[in-house]
Amino acid sequence: MTAYKERFDAYRDHVEKFYKDWYARFSDEPQNKLFDSMSYSFLAGGKRLRPIFAYEFCRMCGGDWQKAAPFAAAVEMVHTYSLIHDDLPCMDNDDFRRGRLTNHKVYGEALATLAGDALLTDAFAVLSTAEIPGKGMADAVGILSECAGSLGMVGGQVLDIMSEERILTEQEVLDIQSRKTGALIRAACALGAIAGNASDEQFDAACQFAAGLGLAFQIRDDMLDVIGTQEEMGKGVGTDAAKNTFVRLYGLERCEELVQKYTDYALQALEVFPDHDAMACLAKSLTSRRV
Ligand code: IPE
Ligand code: IPE
Ligand code: MG
Ligand code: MG
Ligand code: MG
Repeated sequence: MTAYKERFDAYRDHVEKFYKDWYARFSDEPQNKLFDSMSYSFLAGGKRLRPIFAYEFCRMCGGDWQKAAPFAAAVEMVHTYSLIHDDLPCMDNDDFRRGRLTNHKVYGEALATLAGDALLTDAFAVLSTAEIPGKGMADAVGILSECAGSLGMVGGQVLDIMSEERILTEQEVLDIQSRKTGALIRAACALGAIAGNASDEQFDAACQFAAGLGLAFQIRDDMLDVIGTQEEMGKGVGTDAAKNTFVRLYGLERCEELVQKYTDYALQALEVFPDHDAMACLAKSLTSRRV
């Protein structure tokens, strides 16, 4: 993993700079409190996995990775909005995120809700600036809105909060996780592939990678809610005990096997790309992540 640290750090810096430059233009606007609230969460760090997926799939498809910046930033903005709303008292009611107090704890519920709304909406303005030929832009808009909306992340969040009263089946948990977490990871990989002008085979492989990785990632997230520490994670742990997770269904040991199984499925998809070592290393490292 360390071999690719520089590349991934460059991607992280690039997406942050892109975000800062975008909003620097609006510093005279009177609603500066809103921008503060948005940046408080966006610039709090985070692993930046979705931007990394977008940039790296663009590169693996043969594109210039910097071209993927508007897509990388747009997906991370949608992801950050999803975290702000996920933490609200009416949702998971969490106090810590990305190593700091949650957005509503600092800015209040109204502004936190609106900061999420603005990040989601602005994401599409950001995305629209990508220099993508042909119907790539229309595809990208369609994919991000589908993955974020009622069929994707929001749909998954609804299934998640509506199912706290009962124990679900494995299929039902898969339905939740592939939507609430998997969908935005799919958007990141698919948009990266579009930015890299992917062939149909490359595009399908990016989507297969995302399907496996998304499940592995959320199962590990649920494990870390049990075995992680707030210090490492930068967010509260033990807060999802009542939730329907694979940990609740099968226990930690079986979950470790499932993380491996879905990661292997993701890794198989990478075979299509001749230069996939960095992505494979990253995917493997996520199976034992503590953050
Ligand atoms: C947290 O996502 C929410 C889930 C979808 C599990 P990340 O673990 O990617 O959060 P950041 O972006 O690093 O803060
Ligand atoms: C949330 O899943 C996924 C989102 C759409 C934000 P979790 O509720 O498990 O995410 P964390 O653990 O709070 O980051
Ligand atoms: Mg949640
Ligand atoms: Mg949560
Ligand atoms: Mg969680």
